[in-house]
Amino acid sequence: MNGIADFTDRKVLVAGASSGIGKKTALVLSRLGAKLILVARREDKLKETLELLEGDGHSYYLCDLSQPETIESLVKTVVSEQGKLDGLVYAAGVNTSMPLGQFKPEKVQQVFNINYFGFIEFVRQVCRRGRFNEGMRIVGVSSVASVRGDKSHLAYSGSKAAMNASIRCIAKEVADKGICINAVAPAMTKTEMYTQYVNEYGEDSGSNDDLLKRQYLGLAETDDIANAIAFLMSPAARFITGITLPVDGGLTTS
Ligand SMILES: NC(=O)c1ccc[n+]([C@@H]2O[C@H](COP(=O)([O-])OP(=O)(O)OC[C@H]3O[C@@H](n4cnc5c(N)ncnc54)[C@H](OP(=O)(O)O)[C@@H]3O)[C@@H](O)[C@H]2O)c1
Repeated sequence: MNGIADFTDRKVLVAGASSGIGKKTALVLSRLGAKLILVARREDKLKETLELLEGDGHSYYLCDLSQPETIESLVKTVVSEQGKLDGLVYAAGVNTSMPLGQFKPEKVQQVFNINYFGFIEFVRQVCRRGRFNEGMRIVGVSSVASVRGDKSHLAYSGSKAAMNASIRCIAKEVADKGICINAVAPAMTKTEMYTQYVNEYGEDSGSNDDLLKRQYLGLAETDDIANAIAFLMSPAARFITGITLPVDGGLTTS
């Protein structure tokens, strides 16, 4: 992959780098030569990611993305300390189980703050003049939930569908700055979030088994998603923008 995806000295910020898909994406990109800027809330976990990265010149910053108004000062600080960015991967996200009968706007707002508003604000801030290098790539981590229906997932699915829809629009707005923006839509992937999902649906594990039958390549590993993100972040993906790429072991087509 190195010949196609050479990230030597490209500065990539990964939001949600303290675990799961974001952490693995940071590792994969570091192997390809990128300088990583890691962002999340848990410092101990970010330090663990940092120690696993290949190469040097990596850094980390703490930020609670449930408060999108803090993102502007974070991005200003990162750019002044690390220089202009070549890439943003937004892998931060939360899932929540909320049946229609328990709908509360403030609970939906919490999910949207991290999964959607945090993403849009991050994109807005990194796309400002003087903060990015020509050819910057942005990838948001969406979900197959954005195009599927599942009981109790109205907030999560809505937030991811909003991400896909906005990416289609933003892609056109940033094209003349030389920026490409896309999403990946993973299916069930072995991470902390998946463990939490299975624990919540313990009694209903039949439906999880059914889902896994349709996800006929099996449960995804974080590498499966990280490799797809690395491709979209690479110079090789120059002509791809505005899309949501399913990385789903066949789920959405079965
Ligand atoms: N696992 C799956 O089956 C699956 C499937 C489809 C899509 N996805 C999506 O993939 C993305 C990554 O999820 P994952 O499975 O890798 O889950 P994970 O292991 O739980 O990681 C979630 C990441 O989001 C960060 N995060 C959560 N709330 C945050 C906040 N308020 N501020 C800053 N960072 C925050 C966490 O960092 P801190 O806690 O340290 O802040 C962590 O780094 C999510 O957007 C998720 O929706 C996952």
